Amino acid sequence: MPKSIKFKLTLWYVLILGVILSSFSIFVYFTLADSLHKGLDNKIKAMAKVIASSSARPLLGGPSMADLDRMMMRHFGIKPLGRFIQVVDEAGRVDSKSTNLRNVELPVSVKTLEEAARGRVTFETVKVSGGDSLRVVTVPIIQNDRMVGIVQVGSSLEGVAEALDQLLLILVIAVPAALLVTSVGGLFLANKALKPVDEITRTARQIGSGDLSQRITIKNVKDEIGRLASTFNEMLARLEELFQQMKRFTADASHELKTPLTILKGEVEVGLKRGRQLDEYQRILRSNLEEIDRMSRLVEDLLTLSQADMGALNLKREKVDVSQLGREVWEDLIRLAQEKGVELNFVDDGLPAVQGDPLRLRQLILNLVENGIKYTPRGGHVELKVRSDRERGIAEIEVADTGIGMVEKDVDRIFDRFFRVDEARSRQTGGTGLGLSICQSIAEAHGGEISVRSELGQGSTFTVTIPLQD
Ligand SMILES: Nc1ncnc2c1ncn2[C@@H]1O[C@H](COP(=O)(O)OP(=O)(O)O)[C@@H](O)[C@H]1O
Ligand SMILES: [Mg+2]
Repeated sequence: MPKSIKFKLTLWYVLILGVILSSFSIFVYFTLADSLHKGLDNKIKAMAKVIASSSARPLLGGPSMADLDRMMMRHFGIKPLGRFIQVVDEAGRVDSKSTNLRNVELPVSVKTLEEAARGRVTFETVKVSGGDSLRVVTVPIIQNDRMVGIVQVGSSLEGVAEALDQLLLILVIAVPAALLVTSVGGLFLANKALKPVDEITRTARQIGSGDLSQRITIKNVKDEIGRLASTFNEMLARLEELFQQMKRFTADASHELKTPLTILKGEVEVGLKRGRQLDEYQRILRSNLEEIDRMSRLVEDLLTLSQADMGALNLKREKVDVSQLGREVWEDLIRLAQEKGVELNFVDDGLPAVQGDPLRLRQLILNLVENGIKYTPRGGHVELKVRSDRERGIAEIEVADTGIGMVEKDVDRIFDRFFRVDEARSRQTGGTGLGLSICQSIAEAHGGEISVRSELGQGSTFTVTIPLQD
């Protein structure tokens, strides 16, 4: 059994066509056979009736065989060509017969005579010497309601058989020929239709060897194969994009880790160069600790993000009082804000409870408020607002600051990993550009979302919505 669709398609196609053509041929053959036989029967019957009718009366009583033929011609304009005619009296003796019967007689069975006596017409197929079949009709000659004899007209079945044989020959040659042409044509068409599939396979194979920039050339976008190909191309584009992102992510992550490592190494080398005072060592170690902290935070963040990517954040699902969380974050950060000279307010409407992981939600709020304080100059304020919108079924956490804000093109990118508007300054303040990515992952893992409005020099407002517990 061939495996390829081409062959299967063609095979089915030819098979179905074969069944149709064969049934059609059988139908034609038998219909024609039937109608030829009926036609012949009708003709010989008509001829026999004419002879048997009263106008044929003078025939009876011994005209010669030649006369019968001539009579037919003269009276009815019928040339009894190929027809065998004989007239038999009631006792079964042959009265007269056509010349072509010569010294042969059409056989008359008892049964036929009996039928004729009852005034019935009978048809028989008889074998004559030489193996030919004759179709014979027997018509009674009735006079004064009495059968006085019978007329028999016979006709060779040779013509009919010949016509049918010819038809059979044509069908036997034509049907397989048609099937052959169809299979070749079908294979050609299937081949043509499926050619793009081969191309897709080839491209896929090339991609298998790592080249994601490959695309399938599409000739007709609208047909099925074209749609398949363009879907495939779209998928490739997405994969390529994801792959690029991944590469970028790895490169960025290595870079982020490399910087503190370089600093660590440098400091340790300086420390080892010559003997130093205790307080110098302590200074170096404190600085080392800072870099180690930074790396731990980074590794922690990377871990969180990769878990989120795998859908494995292992979120707890418990009732979380968001107002309570907000208050805790405010308490944790109020000192930091005061040190920076930024006013930090907390406003809540009291009750939103959501279903989620308290530690992750706390991390989310903390990141946002920390950013707010970090990117707001002295004298500005940051407000953390928690409220619920029962109608929309959400809890809303809003962090608004009067800080530096950002331009529109950066707004689109701040949730990207490692993105920082001002890399140099951000690094000084300890940021790696992963904070907001993590916020987004946490919000989405809770079935919520995060958005931002910002204006350069005016401030930014981050809004997180989390579905309320119902
Ligand atoms: N409240 C804010 N005001 C202005 N810019 C912000 C604010 N929050 C974040 N950003 C910008 O978005 C970038 C990404 O933020 P984040 O992912 O938290 O990284 P990080 O804080 O480590 O730099 C920041 O570097 C900063 O440029
Ligand atoms: Mg941050």
